[in-house]
Amino acid sequence: MTSTSRPEFVIAATPASGADVLVLGLYSGDDGPRLAPGAEFLTDGADASILRGLTSVGATGKAGEVTRIPADGAGVRSVLAVGLGSPVEDGPSAETVRRAAGVAARALEGTESAITTLSALDLAAAVEGFALGAYRFTSYRSAASAPKKTPVGTVVLLTAAPAERAQPVVDAAVATAESVALARDLVNTPPNALYPAEFADRARAAGEAAGLAVEVFDEQYLAANGYGGIVGVGQGSSRPPRLVRLTYTSGVPGAKKVALVGKGVTFDTGGISIKPAAGMDHMTSDMGGAAAVVATVVLAARLGLQVDVTATVPMAENMPSATAQRPGDVLTQYGGKTVEVLNTDAEGRLILADAIVRACEDGPDYLIDTATLTGAQMVALGNRTPGVMGTEAFRDRVAALSRAVGENGWAMPFPEELRADLESRVADLANVGPTRWGGMLLAGVFLQQFVADGVEWAHVDVAGPAFNTGAPWGYTPKGGTGVPVRTIIAVLSDIAANG
Ligand code: BES
Ligand code: MN
Ligand code: ZN
Repeated sequence: MTSTSRPEFVIAATPASGADVLVLGLYSGDDGPRLAPGAEFLTDGADASILRGLTSVGATGKAGEVTRIPADGAGVRSVLAVGLGSPVEDGPSAETVRRAAGVAARALEGTESAITTLSALDLAAAVEGFALGAYRFTSYRSAASAPKKTPVGTVVLLTAAPAERAQPVVDAAVATAESVALARDLVNTPPNALYPAEFADRARAAGEAAGLAVEVFDEQYLAANGYGGIVGVGQGSSRPPRLVRLTYTSGVPGAKKVALVGKGVTFDTGGISIKPAAGMDHMTSDMGGAAAVVATVVLAARLGLQVDVTATVPMAENMPSATAQRPGDVLTQYGGKTVEVLNTDAEGRLILADAIVRACEDGPDYLIDTATLTGAQMVALGNRTPGVMGTEAFRDRVAALSRAVGENGWAMPFPEELRADLESRVADLANVGPTRWGGMLLAGVFLQQFVADGVEWAHVDVAGPAFNTGAPWGYTPKGGTGVPVRTIIAVLSDIAANG
């Protein structure tokens, strides 16, 4: 998207003529597919004729399906039907609409303008789906491989809601999609171009544009002030580490304070405990957590949420070199705990620990950290289900809100016996345990040692979900996904509303 390729959205109560394509939702059913509500304006048998046309080319209405037929009396050139699956009593879920709109957006490449009834089902979800589905990242393509077709230009949103009620909904959904796109862009930017200082510059620019207070700390400051985890991980690279702090102050008296922390490893080779070559390119996404929290604090400001938010974002490149940390090194984290670095590839937790301790100095009510932290997350939950850990009530609240926005977070435990796996021969803690078992949970237990007492905390491991190595689906493109931006903004909104 990079905001230039996002479609323009226009709210309409009735279908004005002139759009190229009509985008309809299609339910599946035992007696064949049927049009979802919102298409009642199709009179004179146009609806029946469209449905016949769709059925005759094999449309069933199953979720993810997309069928395009020539228009027949609907005032457009063609009809694009997107499957919504079986009808449910209260109408399709927001996620069903969001995915259908995303599928439609990709099918609409090369189309000037479209008009849709998906907005009659769920306006915000339709806008998010179209905007997120139209996203593309082309900054590093020359004309030789640039896409031939442009993303859909204009989407007319049919809705019964009066424009003055609909417009703020559309604006918030657009702002959300733009922040997700910012996170995706940061993840998709290759690791030679996005290194800690550059990432910090981009975070500063995004923060200042949104009116945030911005602080950037360089490697000298970090070394002089005891940030041993960030310094240790960053010391193998010729491109030194950074710590960025972005603060949104709502101005609301008594507003809750939320700290966000995100892992910003701009490339993870593993360091001296080097990773195998196969798939190492995926480690360009190892700053996905950082990208998400930068994008989310910007979004909180744009939405004017009644909650105070500070993102504390450690950035480092994990490289092997003569200056890199060694397996067996002992470092001192910010705040004074010592850690034996048994495996330099367990680097995320080292930079996060410093940032968590710093974030807790502000006395937040809530702390959310997110990171592409463990391969074990993918072993346990796959590529589309973040693992959510932390203090129990808040963990469950974050997981539930994540599922409500279609990002699928799932609560995971901290079995008490795991703590012993972090015992070190020489230091307060080791950064890895003696076995692979429960690797996602053990990483969470490590972070737990650094969270201040009394802070409600959630840790969201998005190792798989932050980056799509497969084909595009729904509104999710290849590459950076922007997960968990929409989870965290949902949590911030919920805290603003309910404390
Ligand atoms: N960045 C990786 C985790 C990761 C793996 C993210 C695959 C996305 C996809 C992390 O820094 C890492 O290397 N973790 C190790 C920890 C281990 C050494 C305890 C892992 O998961 O293998
Ligand atoms: Mn690693
Ligand atoms: Zn990593």
